[in-house]
Amino acid sequence: MITIEKETCAACGLCAEHCPMNLIAQDEQGFPCYREDGPACLGCGHCATVCPTGALRLEGLPTEGPVTDLGPNGKDFVAFLKARRSVRVFDPRPVPRGLLREVLEAVRFAPSAKNAQPVEWTILEDGAKLRVLAAGMLAALKADPAMAARYKYVKEGEDPIFRGAPHLVLAHTADDALWSGDAVIAAAYLDLAATALGLGTCWSGIALGTAAKSTALKVASLIPEGHTIRAAMMIGYPRDSNLRLPARKPLHVRWA
Ligand SMILES: Cc1cc2nc3c(=O)[nH]c(=O)nc-3n(C[C@H](O)[C@H](O)[C@H](O)COP(=O)(O)O)c2cc1C
Repeated sequence: MITIEKETCAACGLCAEHCPMNLIAQDEQGFPCYREDGPACLGCGHCATVCPTGALRLEGLPTEGPVTDLGPNGKDFVAFLKARRSVRVFDPRPVPRGLLREVLEAVRFAPSAKNAQPVEWTILEDGAKLRVLAAGMLAALKADPAMAARYKYVKEGEDPIFRGAPHLVLAHTADDALWSGDAVIAAAYLDLAATALGLGTCWSGIALGTAAKSTALKVASLIPEGHTIRAAMMIGYPRDSNLRLPARKPLHVRWA
């Protein structure tokens, strides 16, 4: 699994220290060696990411390059986190596939339990089909006494479900995935990466709630058999800008 180039290995032991499964030992000279009798390797690649000399290679799992640009400094990133907003008024322009792919490429680096990376994506690209889907969901919601008040004033042709977004991104995993939270984390990454790249997003809990009853979304989205949709997110270019931060509850924290 692991190849070590002894000429360049610094025998520093960092790879062993960082392995989440304690799979790497050090021999008498300090060189890393793989514990053959250990649990299965997660393939997380951390051993290679911390190696100061690049002496360690994982079979079949080359690193995807050096960390060269960490982007904004920490304070800018915190400001960015505060400024991200749900977008509910979209420019109808479709987003090029290349840009959607760039967003999802970033999301590949989201954490997942046991590094299982179980999330798959389906993008509903056709805005016209989304409007039809929304109309069906709206009819179901209007007929539901618990939801009707929210949709009472929706006019003919309006889409209060996907808010006129040109696309909808669905995160799905196998029904028996280890932990459904992985998809939610990935969707949160998507939300941030899309915003960073000039797009706007909004989670669509309503669509998932409705879909759970009617499975309309699942059918329309060609989700693979044996998969469950875990998150749905509208995506497109935002039409407007949010110029102020909204009020938030004060922080509630207990130090124990
Ligand atoms: C799981 C989840 C489901 C949501 N579902 C919807 C939805 O169906 N429709 C909608 O307009 N906003 C939806 N939202 C967006 C929330 O209303 C929004 O995040 C919240 O009001 C805070 O606003 P902000 O995202 O601009 O900070 C959802 C958010 C989350 C996290």
